[in-house]
Amino acid sequence: MKSAVCPGSFDPVTYGHLDIIERATSHFDQVIVAVLENRSKASLFTVEERISMIRENTKHFPNVVIDSWYGLLVEYCRANKVTTIVKGLRAVTDFDYELQMAQINFQAAKVETMFMATSPTHSFLSSSIVKELAHFGGDVSTMVPPNVDEALRKRVAGTTNRSAGD
Ligand code: PNS
Repeated sequence: MKSAVCPGSFDPVTYGHLDIIERATSHFDQVIVAVLENRSKASLFTVEERISMIRENTKHFPNVVIDSWYGLLVEYCRANKVTTIVKGLRAVTDFDYELQMAQINFQAAKVETMFMATSPTHSFLSSSIVKELAHFGGDVSTMVPPNVDEALRKRVAGTTNRSAGD
């Protein structure tokens, strides 16, 4: 069985992530969506909350499995005998970081990274942008599924519409 891992912090999952996951399902027997920690980003949702939001939006794909891992991605791959990582590339701004990660992961464990070009509809989209918009009361309904939209509203409730002096 050919498996691939789609890793990310998914804080929270967006339509951009879901597009990559869905497209990966037609190229692999099994797609493991792995929720990992990105140490350079503070998270808004717990790992359990992120998993639940992903699960709700991938339950119609029989070959999608959701998992989490604390540690190196290559260690996850080793432990689960996965040799392929699938990631979305939005723009050239993603490239330097993603190339470095792909090279490190290959050198460390011979794990290949396959990049999928993000759909142009989602090329500007990131979890960070979504959180920023939601924080200030912006409309993110075209960027995230309804359950994520609702979770974001609840999480940021009470933190918006404050004056600059607060
Ligand atoms: O969605 P993100 O935040 O871009 O995902 C980045 C993530 C979580 C895939 C990346 O930070 C990661 O692989 N973290 C696990 C630790 C690791 O293996 N780091 C790379 C080698 S230094």
